[in-house]
Amino acid sequence: MDKLLIQGGTPLTGEVAMSGAKNAALPILCASLLAAEPLHFTNVPELNDISTMRRLIGQMGVEVTLDGDDGLILDSHGLHNPTAPYDMVKTMRASILVLGPLLARCGEAKVSLPGGCAIGARPVDQHIKGLQAMGAEIHVEHGYILARASRLKGARIVTDMVTVTGTENLMMAAVLADGETVIENAAREPEVVDLANCLIAMGARITGAGTDSICVHGVERLHGARHAIMPDRIETGTYLCAAAVTGGHIRLTNTSAAYLDSVLQKLREAGCEVTAESSAIKLKAPPRLKAVSIRTAPYPAFPTDMQAQFMAINCVAEGSAVIRETIFENRFMHAVELIRLGADIRIDANNALVTGVACLDGATVMATDLRASASLVIAGLVAQGETLIERIYHLDRGYERIEEKLTRLGAKVKRVH
Ligand code: UD1
Repeated sequence: MDKLLIQGGTPLTGEVAMSGAKNAALPILCASLLAAEPLHFTNVPELNDISTMRRLIGQMGVEVTLDGDDGLILDSHGLHNPTAPYDMVKTMRASILVLGPLLARCGEAKVSLPGGCAIGARPVDQHIKGLQAMGAEIHVEHGYILARASRLKGARIVTDMVTVTGTENLMMAAVLADGETVIENAAREPEVVDLANCLIAMGARITGAGTDSICVHGVERLHGARHAIMPDRIETGTYLCAAAVTGGHIRLTNTSAAYLDSVLQKLREAGCEVTAESSAIKLKAPPRLKAVSIRTAPYPAFPTDMQAQFMAINCVAEGSAVIRETIFENRFMHAVELIRLGADIRIDANNALVTGVACLDGATVMATDLRASASLVIAGLVAQGETLIERIYHLDRGYERIEEKLTRLGAKVKRVH
């Protein structure tokens, strides 16, 4: 299994381009199941999760063709097997995103229940309830969701909590339904908007994406389209934190400050100078950051996917900060690894009190999930001496060519096989 070896202490400087957003690309690849004509996507990141999704829809009968460095052409006219087997779903929870499109296009779907994961139980009851409200017959048998509907019917759906993939699944199911569907308490994440824009380009009639009430008028069929995946706001935030904690000065291109208000505000509060350009962000860090408290919540509030990275920067900042996680019940696993590097962190239920120390010491640590891994990279970049991060397959799920991008910014990082 690959490991990442980091020699800490070098301020990040220079310029690097950000990739397309994993969390936008995954639902958008599933949207290809809705039309029998080719879809051409660009700015698709090369990540393990994207390969898994390509394999998953490939075994359903979708033809996948690579086009240049970051392009994919998906043709699902031959879709014949509306099944997502356990072996694939267990490696990537986002596989549940095929449920809505398969049901809408094929009238049936057999999708393995994802089960829990390291950061929490993460049930999919809201996906199921929403589809049932649209007239689907759903049974759970032997660990599989078995869904049927001759044609889904428009419905008014109020989700119990804000769910990103839940909103995306229901929106994709509704585009081919008979009549109007309104999703209330919808997720407002930019990735939901990117998916809606792609569906609209395919002929869907959607209004309200980006608000908490999305209205979809079902159409008979969708057609082929071209769509460029939005930039990855979490990758961008992660590199900004890495530059901030090392006292660096960087410019990130192919990205946008528009989706990062809450994160940029906290980086400014920590003492960084942040400049937004039309498709780039510049950050200049002070010699030492000030600790900043955060509370995660659905967009546009502070993203849970940036919580671990901010815990890492607070570990060496001046003062104390409280980190409150409100989305997932078990998302502090990086704290124990950061403590192994010398951090002062006290956990009380979903609150972490982090008191900055003068320096962290390199050590061997273990990545436990995607964003936890990112926090360990950030800590390793500022720690004294060498940090060896084990199980970096988590990182490869969500950060494209991470060691190459960090090296371009002057970091001393090596992948060890
Ligand atoms: C998505 C993102 C993930 C991010 C998360 C929260 C993708 C592929 N993943 O995950 O990176 O961390 O949003 O911003 O886009 N819940 C239920 N029942 C449901 C659905 C959700 O109880 O049917 C709960 C979850 O357990 C969690 C909360 O709702 O506590 C929010 O989860 P949700 O927004 O659905 O997360 P994902 O869409 O899985």
